[in-house]
Amino acid sequence: MDARRNPFAPGAGTRPPELAGREDLIEASAVALDRIRAGRAARSTILYGLRGVGKTVLLSAIRDAAEAEGMAVVAIEAPENRSLPGILVPALRAALLRLDRVKQASAGVKRALSALAGFAKLKVKYDDLEVALDFASEPGLADSGDLEADLADLIVAVGEAARERGTAVVLAIDELQYVPEEQLAALISALHRANQRQLPITLVGAGLPQLLGQMGRAKSYAERLFAFVPVGPLDAAAAGDALRLPIEREGEAIDDAAIAAIVAETEGYPYFLQEWGKHSWDTAEASPITAEDVALATRTALAELDASFFRVRFDRLTPAEKRYLRAMATLGPGPHRSGDIADALGVKVSSVAPTRNTLIGKGMLYSPAHGDTAFTVPLFDAFMRRVLPD
Ligand SMILES: Nc1ncnc2c1ncn2[C@@H]1O[C@H](COP(=O)(O)OP(=O)(O)OP(=O)(O)O)[C@@H](O)[C@H]1O
Ligand SMILES: [Mg+2]
Repeated sequence: MDARRNPFAPGAGTRPPELAGREDLIEASAVALDRIRAGRAARSTILYGLRGVGKTVLLSAIRDAAEAEGMAVVAIEAPENRSLPGILVPALRAALLRLDRVKQASAGVKRALSALAGFAKLKVKYDDLEVALDFASEPGLADSGDLEADLADLIVAVGEAARERGTAVVLAIDELQYVPEEQLAALISALHRANQRQLPITLVGAGLPQLLGQMGRAKSYAERLFAFVPVGPLDAAAAGDALRLPIEREGEAIDDAAIAAIVAETEGYPYFLQEWGKHSWDTAEASPITAEDVALATRTALAELDASFFRVRFDRLTPAEKRYLRAMATLGPGPHRSGDIADALGVKVSSVAPTRNTLIGKGMLYSPAHGDTAFTVPLFDAFMRRVLPD
């Protein structure tokens, strides 16, 4: 069918034509944000799930809803190899200056900017921290040089500024699993302090499943401070909506059998639904899209994934890491016992532990329970078997 009108949007963080199956999550987070702005108790939200499951678009939807409600959103993505102070400072500064535009000369915002100036002295420790210092620091405010103490001062000052302005500040941080553990600990403890004072500042974070363990290790009370929300594949009804509604809006149709075939191939994973929807549309000669069209589209979709989505991840691996993942793939989708993987490789668990650790660090693997190992990329096991056949 006409590729120009193809509604599907496979990508990273690309808004889907239909954000299916997430209504409850969006509503729950809107309730939490409203409570926080009103100075009532509510937990910060952490969205966690595998690659391509829709965390970033969900975070964007929550962010947009908060902005529409007049809250101040500080949106950042934690890239690999950057420090939290380095990414937080410029974003917070911009948000504070925006807060100040609403009404000039706010004492709370001025104080928060002074806290930021004090905090920025941490650049002696975090060399990626760069900020225009257009505000004088206040002696004793966020300037001790200790990250945990200074971040708490800063977050509290920002929360007080938000309260003075009658709004809430929402820190929206994507890829939170890349924040090193001691910096994560400082962030959690700062939010804890603001939470105890019922200040209207909160975190909506998103990341891979290893984030749960990282946060729990960083601060044991993290589980009480945050609502950990699993973001998983869509169930059959939501996956059907994600496919059918965009097609129908273009005045075209898709068979039930075709939808069932796509749901089976993709296991309901949002990114793959977009890819299969796109390829099925392009493959079909005419509406309605049928199961035969999907069978053909599966070949082109897989070929394209193997050349891009899966491939870029594969190309970042060392030979030892590839062997480890290939051994896991032999055992199936997982999770697998680390001992079973070592057995499949014919080595001792301890000798491959470093490889497993670097794979976790690269965001390829996570440990759903002690001694278990699983892929963070859905359907990666089948890819490993295709790319490295026996
Ligand atoms: N609820 C949904 N319904 C339909 N499509 C969706 C849904 N959520 C996400 N998608 C689509 O899935 C793809 C992946 O979404 P997104 O980038 O948000 O995933 P992610 O979990 O952030 O992945 P990563 O861990 O790689 O960052 C996008 O193409 C997006 O349009
Ligand atoms: Mg993402």
